[in-house]
Amino acid sequence: MTADAVTALDVAFREIADGDVEQVVALWEACGLTRPWNDPRLDVADARRTPTSTVLVGVSGGQVVSSAVAGYDGHRGWLYYVAVDPQHQGGGLGRATVGAAEEWLRRQGVRKVRLMVRHGNERVLGFYDGLGYTDSECVVLGRDL
Ligand SMILES: CC(C)(COP(=O)(O)OP(=O)(O)OC[C@H]1O[C@@H](n2cnc3c(N)ncnc32)[C@H](O)[C@@H]1OP(=O)(O)O)[C@@H](O)C(=O)NCCC(=O)NCCS
Repeated sequence: MTADAVTALDVAFREIADGDVEQVVALWEACGLTRPWNDPRLDVADARRTPTSTVLVGVSGGQVVSSAVAGYDGHRGWLYYVAVDPQHQGGGLGRATVGAAEEWLRRQGVRKVRLMVRHGNERVLGFYDGLGYTDSECVVLGRDL
């Protein structure tokens, strides 16, 4: 965390607005969450397309400083793109952002939440462990439609 870093207390959480999209994409790029095969603007648009998913942003001083994509698939809630601006990491904002996303899911009537951590990003496992997330002991399979 830098000297002028914001803390969770300085941040308001809300659903993304049109004017936030480029800041959110920049945040995901700064956090190393983008991949060549995922168009981040399309991912934002997809999450905003249905009432059961959203992009939540943490905002401080008019700037997007954190994000989480939350969605309900009819059985579970899922989190994606959990990100805190590198300048503001380590001050409780990640915990608050996940909490805001969980609260959004709860309001949709969701009882369980899951998330995936990419191989190579194991360093975040300790963060999620501290938030009560445990290994679901599943192998995630996928196929493009
Ligand atoms: C993961 C991330 C969101 C955490 O955000 P953050 O603001 O640094 O986290 P917080 O300050 O809220 O940390 C909450 C707690 O987790 C702990 N923690 C944070 N990172 C940790 C780590 N890598 N290992 C162990 N504990 C960790 C903190 O010490 C803190 O503990 P405390 O509440 O006992 O003080 C942030 O590092 C990030 O954006 N990383 C890059 C993007 C990414 O990998 N996202 C996850 C995709 S699955």
